[in-house]
Amino acid sequence: MSLFEVEGWGLENRKVKAIEKKKRKRTDNNNDDVNEKEISGLGLDKSKIPKKEKMKNENENEKNELVKDKENYKDKKDKRDNKDKRDKKRSKDNEDNNEDIMNKKPKMDMPPPGMPDGIDPSKLTPLQRKMLFKLSGSRFRWINEQLYTTTSENALNMIKKQPELYEEYHKGFASQVESWPENPVDVFTRELVYRGVNKMINSPGGLPGVVINGQKTIVVSDMGCGEANLAIQIDSFMDNYKKNQKEALKKFKKQFGAGKDVSVKNFKLLFKIHSFDLKKINDKITVADIKNVPMLDESCSVVIFCLSLMGTNFLDFIKEASRILIKGGELWITEIKSRISDPKCKEFIKAIENLGFKLRNFDDGNKMFTKFEFYKPIKGIKKGNIEEVRGDRAEGEWLLKPCIYKRR
Ligand SMILES: C[S@@+](CC[C@H](N)C(=O)[O-])C[C@H]1O[C@@H](n2cnc3c(N)ncnc32)[C@H](O)[C@@H]1O
Repeated sequence: MSLFEVEGWGLENRKVKAIEKKKRKRTDNNNDDVNEKEISGLGLDKSKIPKKEKMKNENENEKNELVKDKENYKDKKDKRDNKDKRDKKRSKDNEDNNEDIMNKKPKMDMPPPGMPDGIDPSKLTPLQRKMLFKLSGSRFRWINEQLYTTTSENALNMIKKQPELYEEYHKGFASQVESWPENPVDVFTRELVYRGVNKMINSPGGLPGVVINGQKTIVVSDMGCGEANLAIQIDSFMDNYKKNQKEALKKFKKQFGAGKDVSVKNFKLLFKIHSFDLKKINDKITVADIKNVPMLDESCSVVIFCLSLMGTNFLDFIKEASRILIKGGELWITEIKSRISDPKCKEFIKAIENLGFKLRNFDDGNKMFTKFEFYKPIKGIKKGNIEEVRGDRAEGEWLLKPCIYKRR
């Protein structure tokens, strides 16, 4: 039984009797006479008696009604069948997505995860291609598993010693992202731009800012930035914004969608994005273990962890976020839904709050990802000791499950 069916209420198997049309006996009598006979003695006005023509029309109307009924019924049945099909598909998709969103098969015509450079898959025989996909897929899975099951210090050392691992990991990750309906990095990009242009910095609903060289600036730290797509997208928006603010927003809306009620109200928008990861694969990136980034205390307005709470000691990353954020600064986290064992995420939220944050928004409407928005209260709150919050096991073992790719 699919998720959307309720026992006893199923429509698809229910046989509906064909509508039977009773044949009317036609009398040879003139209809006028019949009617006249039928009403005689009832004291009715003869002029109200239906004429033959009228009766014929009524019969025709009745016939049409029946045809219409049949058509309506067929229409409704088709709609119901289609809806059932859609519901079944949706419910299957939900199950698949929750089970293994990170395990979608890459298409065979795109480079496999972690494929060595210089190999053109289109020049390989089908068997060679299959073997290569398998081999690169298992290397990718191995690197991914290391990042989820070791401490951040070990992860940094591993990538320093074998930098090619990082490239392999990112090719694999990029091919997974291709199969997702929406990249969570785009969601954060959209939020930064729409809140940034629509409200003045530090105003209610606006983004928090830091004063740099006399100018209010939204300083963002993208922790575990991958290929630094957030910085690339925001910087590209800002290049357009400096030339023509309204046109820039129009172009951005076309590319990223939503933002119907957003317009340019903040004409002095300024962003500074810092992107940290284990390897510098482009100029935007600074190499750092995100448990210890080169930023001053209280120098940042928004800290983002987009699918990057990977090390077994990830509560250290949250503690670092608390150090670099200004009071009133925001902490945005998106994680893979299936990593969180408690469906209401209570334990996870409690752990983050114990490290000095308050939850503002929590969105688990997306079937793949859960998004959290915390802030660092202006007055400050009593922080727990990280070792107490952690307990006797590393948080990567109980608070968030590692996201391990399945062997195919
Ligand atoms: C799943 S990827 C997501 C990348 C990017 N945020 C995105 O959503 O496209 C996680 C990233 O976190 C990085 N990462 C994990 N642990 C890290 C650490 N201790 N320090 C810096 N980066 C780390 C990984 O190298 C990887 O690039």
